[in-house]
Amino acid sequence: MGAGVDPWSGFEGHERVIVARDEDTGIGMVIALHSTVLGPALGGTRMNAYAGASDPHAAAYADALHLSRAMTFKNSLAGLPHGGGKAVIVADPRERTTELLHAYGRLVSTLEGAYLTAGDVGISVADLDVISQTCPWTTGRSPEHGGLGDSAILTAVGVLAGLRASLEFALGRTGVDGTSVAIVGLGKVGGRIAEHLAAEGARVIGYDPDPQACERARDQAPGMTVAGSLAEVLDADVDVLSPNALGGLLTPELARTTSARVVCGAANNQLAEPSVAGLLAERGVTYAPDFMVNCGGVIQISAEHAGGTMETARAQAEAVALTTRQVLERAQSLGVTPVTAAEQQALERIREHRARTGQVV
Ligand code: NAI
Repeated sequence: MGAGVDPWSGFEGHERVIVARDEDTGIGMVIALHSTVLGPALGGTRMNAYAGASDPHAAAYADALHLSRAMTFKNSLAGLPHGGGKAVIVADPRERTTELLHAYGRLVSTLEGAYLTAGDVGISVADLDVISQTCPWTTGRSPEHGGLGDSAILTAVGVLAGLRASLEFALGRTGVDGTSVAIVGLGKVGGRIAEHLAAEGARVIGYDPDPQACERARDQAPGMTVAGSLAEVLDADVDVLSPNALGGLLTPELARTTSARVVCGAANNQLAEPSVAGLLAERGVTYAPDFMVNCGGVIQISAEHAGGTMETARAQAEAVALTTRQVLERAQSLGVTPVTAAEQQALERIREHRARTGQVV
């Protein structure tokens, strides 16, 4: 770790954090286990060099702590038998080698199943196949290697379920027919969301800086409008805004200006700052928390680990609609934001489980 790392900074109720270096390359690795109360910690591995940070190892450490805590909430709300964990390999994804991935797999194996690893930014399904050669606690593999494949399919299913439930809650609509939706990011998840919504009669406008992603989305969702800039899609007069690119899209300014009545998408960490949840609520915008609706992928990798099928996992991802209704109703009746209501619901499940099982951690 860099000299600037304070091991207690951000350590909010985490059970343990493993910090290691690959012997051959000196590349740093961090595994953060936030909670194993509900079961083995489950969460992806991010490969990132944190090149812009003054201390990349401190930045990686902070990221692992923050992301693993979020996984505890996501897994609990999704009803999974898993706590939250997350890992970071502090390297540019171009530095990946089979040896590095094997070394990482051996590190995860030292935890003997307390942490199940999977993919995240910079780690592909093919990488997970390689990691699984030295680590049986790897999930999110390709069908050729016994996995269930691309998790974006069920992530889109869960987001769509949450979007429909939010639309019904906010505007009393029981379908998306005639609803206008702005989609930011037309990648694996956003492209599928555009496809389903367009097929069901929604008016879709989307934006992605990658021309290939735009081309694919046009094929997937004939009739959708592809915007020429991010500003164009954010300024569009729509009922729903669906963030499916990177985090931080929901700034205080956007919260004050968006025409959308519902915000629901897959991107992690959509709120640029926590206060945005309150700003959206004050303007009557229904925000479906990202960690509540984007759990389809984690449902899929949990099913893969348990030997389940895509069919059962899909049904579980559809249940995001029920959770969304419960959380939005709770937020309304308690006068809190949906983010607070979702966190409360997630923590209640953990506390109940701990009380039932007498666990101390
Ligand atoms: P992806 O990488 O396939 O798609 C992301 C798209 O966003 C890319 O096409 C990229 O060009 C675009 N993009 C980048 N900057 C942009 C900008 N400024 N404006 C608009 N578009 C921009 O990723 P994927 O799998 O579709 O994931 C989308 C989001 O959902 C990510 O934030 C991811 O962390 C999150 N997520 C994905 C899950 C999954 O199973 N794939 C699970 C849970 C969350």
